Amino acid sequence: MSLLKIIKYGHPILREKALEIKSLGSREQDLIDSMIETMYANHGLGLAANQVGVLQRIFVLDVDQDREAEDEVATRAPRVFINPEITWESAEDEPFKEGCLSIPGVENEVFRPSQVKVSARDENFEPFEVEADELLARVIQHELDHLNGVLYVDRLSLLKRKLLGGKLNKIKSATMEELPSLPDSYPILIG
Ligand code: NI
Repeated sequence: MSLLKIIKYGHPILREKALEIKSLGSREQDLIDSMIETMYANHGLGLAANQVGVLQRIFVLDVDQDREAEDEVATRAPRVFINPEITWESAEDEPFKEGCLSIPGVENEVFRPSQVKVSARDENFEPFEVEADELLARVIQHELDHLNGVLYVDRLSLLKRKLLGGKLNKIKSATMEELPSLPDSYPILIG
């Protein structure tokens, strides 16, 4: 288990579609543990495998943690979604301000369905279904987008995206500078 580096906007792996997982081995278990650790260390509500350089259909989230609690660690309730699929979504969209660990310093209101039903496999590779609303529905949709190479900024209006352009370009330039050194840091990049 180790802290993983989060890949930032501009890196091509964030635009790749992650691949379905056929079975869970020790490598995937380690990855899941490390993703959970990395999510908490970066104060994220969720984290998708693309964001740590792995093209496998896994994301983790925790929308129940009470960050204000005296013992916030005790309130943690991480959940693992493997090969997730949205099987139903509500007709009405609602706005919510989203940020992304791969797009630091930027937040914007995104419209998405307010409720979704999702089927996935858990950390034991057991299938489960969940009906989600509010924050859980939001985070599931954001993370599932990552696994399909989609970022929330893609869902903004052209005008809003234009307004963000300068900030996004700055993040992208920093990412491109780092790019040549990335393969060494990601021994499990391919697989
Ligand atoms: Ni994100």
